[in-house]
Amino acid sequence: MAILVAGGAGYIGSVTVELLRAAGERVVVLDNLVRGHRPALDADIPFYEGNIGDRALLARIAAEHQLESCIHFAALAYVGESVQEPARYYENNVEQGVAMMSALLHAGVRRVVFSSTAATYGDAKHHPIPENEPQWPVNPYGWSKLFMEQLLHSFDVAYGLKFVSLRYFNAAGATEKCGEHHEPESHLIPNILLAAEKEPPEVAVFGNNYPTPDGTAIRDYVHVLDLADAHIRALGHLRRGGASDFLNLGTGHGYSVMEVVAAARKVTGREIRVRVEPPRAGDPPRLVADPAKSQAVLGWIPTKSDLRSIIESAWRWHQRHPRGYDS
Ligand SMILES: NC(=O)c1ccc[n+]([C@@H]2O[C@H](COP(=O)([O-])OP(=O)(O)OC[C@H]3O[C@@H](n4cnc5c(N)ncnc54)[C@H](O)[C@@H]3O)[C@@H](O)[C@H]2O)c1
Repeated sequence: MAILVAGGAGYIGSVTVELLRAAGERVVVLDNLVRGHRPALDADIPFYEGNIGDRALLARIAAEHQLESCIHFAALAYVGESVQEPARYYENNVEQGVAMMSALLHAGVRRVVFSSTAATYGDAKHHPIPENEPQWPVNPYGWSKLFMEQLLHSFDVAYGLKFVSLRYFNAAGATEKCGEHHEPESHLIPNILLAAEKEPPEVAVFGNNYPTPDGTAIRDYVHVLDLADAHIRALGHLRRGGASDFLNLGTGHGYSVMEVVAAARKVTGREIRVRVEPPRAGDPPRLVADPAKSQAVLGWIPTKSDLRSIIESAWRWHQRHPRGYDS
């Protein structure tokens, strides 16, 4: 039996594939490579280049492999881009997502682990954010993920599809093999590391007037290996007959942009400067998880997510891959 990893050539997907294979699991990857990288995957992994919305392709994959579950990472995932191009986001993340889930049901797959996001909370009132915080996204990306959460719940009620929706906070860091390479890069840590190599080393900071102690936005950073580990635990939970659930993946500690820049200066030894730009549309001031429920349900405790280890691992990968997977 194999696990279909949709979006497995992307950042978090490729690290999860690495960990699943190390645990002896059989995986099949589906990715359209719009944002993913084929070299992030070992050559012997069954790989299908195509869209998650392609029902005929999904039927073919199901016929060629005995699928027992799906880990669904495939999405467009830039907040700013989703504000500019909402139609593209709803088509890719929701319309294609509905098609994939229906095709998987048709093929008999009843277990799904889904990549959701803290962006489904919007401007949360409680910090750290518990899972029962009201969800009201402030950008189309967050809405596209919330629609998929609702779809999974409806499919459970009607068709018995069991799922774990993992609401990630900020993924960061790298393994020895896989790292973060997005084009364009919108994530803070890789952008700081890219800036560290330039002359002068200068990074853009979006907004310094938020209601936070130093005025810059606060995020909860989780090492990508801790995230990948949570997926393996979520799959184990479903295989044991566990109930469908929505779980936060964060550490419970937030760092401001300026704190991340300060930590990156120490790791890289470069005097990275900041250039303040206007805040980006759809960016809430603070997103920090309450991770108690993930710990209770999955026994998940992030062990690699201290900020220094995250940045050191990302810096090591960046130095070996200065142009990402094109290096
Ligand atoms: N990176 C983060 O901090 C973060 C935080 C919260 C949630 N997430 C979610 O986690 C998932 C993975 O994030 P990531 O940072 O690895 O992103 P990524 O862009 O690196 O990976 C997504 C992968 O999905 C593929 N893809 C997109 N649309 C597709 C489609 N229609 N058909 C087939 N393949 C498609 C892309 O080519 C890419 O390889 C996404 O769903 C994202 O929304 C990420």
